[in-house]
Amino acid sequence: MSEQVDRRYGPATLPRSRGPLSAAVLDALRRPPHDLPAGLGADLDPADPITDEDLQLTLFVCYELHYRGWRGVDEAWEWQPTLLALRAEAERPFEAALRRLVGAPSVPAAGVAAGLAELVAADDGPPLAATLQRRADLSQFREFVAHRSVYHLREADPHSWALPRLGGPAKAALVEIQTDEYGNGRLDRMHAELFRRTLQRLGLDTSYGAHLDAAPAVTLATNNLMSLFGLHRRWRGALLGHLAAFEMTSSLPNRRYGNGLRRLGLDEVATRFYDEHVEADAVHEQIAAHDMCGGLVRAEPALAPDVLFGAAAGLAVDRLFAAHLLDSWAAGRSSLRTPVPPALPPKVSLVALPAVAPPAPPALV
Ligand SMILES: [Fe+2]
Ligand SMILES: [Fe+2]
Repeated sequence: MSEQVDRRYGPATLPRSRGPLSAAVLDALRRPPHDLPAGLGADLDPADPITDEDLQLTLFVCYELHYRGWRGVDEAWEWQPTLLALRAEAERPFEAALRRLVGAPSVPAAGVAAGLAELVAADDGPPLAATLQRRADLSQFREFVAHRSVYHLREADPHSWALPRLGGPAKAALVEIQTDEYGNGRLDRMHAELFRRTLQRLGLDTSYGAHLDAAPAVTLATNNLMSLFGLHRRWRGALLGHLAAFEMTSSLPNRRYGNGLRRLGLDEVATRFYDEHVEADAVHEQIAAHDMCGGLVRAEPALAPDVLFGAAAGLAVDRLFAAHLLDSWAAGRSSLRTPVPPALPPKVSLVALPAVAPPAPPALV
């Protein structure tokens, strides 16, 4: 395999620092594993942890050691005790901010699935999907896709951390969802690979982590939230609640994204990722709420509040993400830290598309 092919799947290149803490961590990671200076990060008190560039990048860099790692960084850093201690210091204000943001959702008498449905029904976030469907220009759509690439190029991985921590019906339900996310074991159907084609059709770099430096703190926070829940067994309830909220709010926005790309003249290869989610997630939402989260809470009733906290936190951080994009565009500026580069000619060979007809373009008001 060539170097270029390797770059599709990671590891990514270390990002640029965004403040003293991320600078210290990035500097350390470039060297062999060693103890970090005592007290590094101990006095962290950012005004708004969710939009603090230095904090969110530091968390992202630490978490990524558990996914693909970083190009040129010694793999032993993953379990270096002083780096783990620093990560815990950085998680503290992030967790506190999430609590301030959503409180502690109460579990209705009807159960956790009903509680999830209530949270989703009450979720009236900024109209990002409608804007992308009806009004966004091509450069704004490319920005949106660049933001989302941080997650979609490893789609489903954070929730897979729950698998070894579950048994019984909840595990079976999670496996059913993740199997679809991973294309039933077919590379060309993996959602991450479908998304790579969307990037490619939009002339954007398709390699893993390519748009990390451009992604602001709030985009990193949407990812760090999943990693926080995924990497701590104590947050397994929140992780499943997060996934359920994700699936329950996916079908309609994905229909809008696909229609937005069609409005802009993109073809079915570009829209396939979104079209695929319209029907898949209409099924996933039922499995996620009733079989997965319901199954977990039947086995471990004490986790019900965590399930709803994870769902509420996911929805709330996503509202902040949507507001950031819309506010940036309304002010006439890019929502990225660095402008999205002009379209690249496609130069990375892609996995062949499966020989099936794409879904018919859905009609929408
Ligand atoms: Fe997916
Ligand atoms: Fe899904």
